[in-house]
Amino acid sequence: MKDPRADYRKHTPTSEKLWQQASKLIPGGITANVKHYNPYPIFMKKAKGSKLYDVDDNEYIDYCLCYGPLILGHGHPAVTEAIKNQLDQGGTTVFGTPNELEAKMAKKIGSHVPCAKMVRFTNSGLEATLHAIRTARAYTKREKIAKFEGHYHGAHDSVAISVTSPLDQAGPSYAPIPVSNSAGLPSHILENTVVLPFNDLPNTEKIIRKHGNELAATIVEPVARGFLTPDIDFLKGLRALTEENGIVLIFDEIMTGFRLGLGGAQEYFGVIPDMVALGKIVGGGLPAGVFAGKAEIMAVMSPVGSKYPYDHLFHSGTFSGCPTVLAAGLATINVLEKPGVYNHINWVAEEVKKCMNNVFEDYKIAAQATGLGSMFQCLFTSQKQIRNYRDTVKADAQKRVSFDLELINNGVYVRPHKPFYTSLAHTKDDLDKTFEAIKEATKTVVK
Ligand SMILES: Cc1ncc(COP(=O)(O)O)c(C=O)c1O
Repeated sequence: MKDPRADYRKHTPTSEKLWQQASKLIPGGITANVKHYNPYPIFMKKAKGSKLYDVDDNEYIDYCLCYGPLILGHGHPAVTEAIKNQLDQGGTTVFGTPNELEAKMAKKIGSHVPCAKMVRFTNSGLEATLHAIRTARAYTKREKIAKFEGHYHGAHDSVAISVTSPLDQAGPSYAPIPVSNSAGLPSHILENTVVLPFNDLPNTEKIIRKHGNELAATIVEPVARGFLTPDIDFLKGLRALTEENGIVLIFDEIMTGFRLGLGGAQEYFGVIPDMVALGKIVGGGLPAGVFAGKAEIMAVMSPVGSKYPYDHLFHSGTFSGCPTVLAAGLATINVLEKPGVYNHINWVAEEVKKCMNNVFEDYKIAAQATGLGSMFQCLFTSQKQIRNYRDTVKADAQKRVSFDLELINNGVYVRPHKPFYTSLAHTKDDLDKTFEAIKEATKTVVK
């Protein structure tokens, strides 16, 4: 196989230099572990629409879009105008008091996302799932939670478990063993987290019934990692089981929220959870998160009428409900509400997937592009149906990374090994260039 790393280094010498300098001051030279890949990540300096520009002046068509939030593309005029207007009218970035946009956004979210009857804002997806889980614990007065193997809910303790488990430590597929996904996790976290097999209702049922009255919450990515589609009977069964056992069902819609449609996965599949965590798109490209749910559950955090300081759930955050962020988020949702917008974004994804699958077939390479709506993943595997984390682990990661580096060398940016996302800003011209890059990258993998 041709090694695309040599070309990558040749095109991006300034990124390599900046990364080496940053590494002396910042562990790994990156501020979030997801940004690391070999040989080193590219440093970008500018973006517009569907394009990113790096510090060596290379142009890329962006299919990472900051891991999903930029569904309208970079610097959409409606979003940048809304941010500028908010700064001009408000005269500052944040007030540190309530502001009108909070209830406006809560109403907007509630009008689209079926379970979101009451809403609180955070600054990241991590915080949204953290507080959703704490809310479920406060509401049920139970401690344990259940999560699915391979699902990611942010970098906090309760859920930094069995996300990328090595299979030799993960136990049988029908009863996964909780495996720490990070150094530094206290052991009691593992004792309080039950791990479930995604898309396997009979075994999920067995495990949930075993722990039924101890579980505060079951948290699930309805479309796992943005591309593993759930069986509809699996989601419905999970809803019924959690309801029967008094467990708060939390949909982590940080990926699917406002991407699979305005009502997210819960509307798409017609399965309504008790709570939802949102992030990414809801902030319009600024740092944001939301946790929301049934009014009686969300009521546990209201300090109003509380006798003692902490007989209610404590949720706080200096920047929660920041008006600049809310203005960007509202502007983004307003554009998404326009007719035809999702059609275009999904059409771009369909075209790229179709091209990949055709080219893989032409070159007789065992690989596939798979996913729903405007998110998809590319896996080098001969397995036809990819249903859960363990299926994805069998794919050839090395081939995928070579494919991605060669895409980058040909002007298409994706964070190696991660899913692809499309936006309103992607054009027919972008698609033509992307198709050429896919052919070149496939040839490299074949060689
Ligand atoms: C499904 C899901 N949940 C939670 C998170 C964490 O969000 P954040 O990175 O904003 O903390 C992510 C981030 O990629 C995610 O994809």
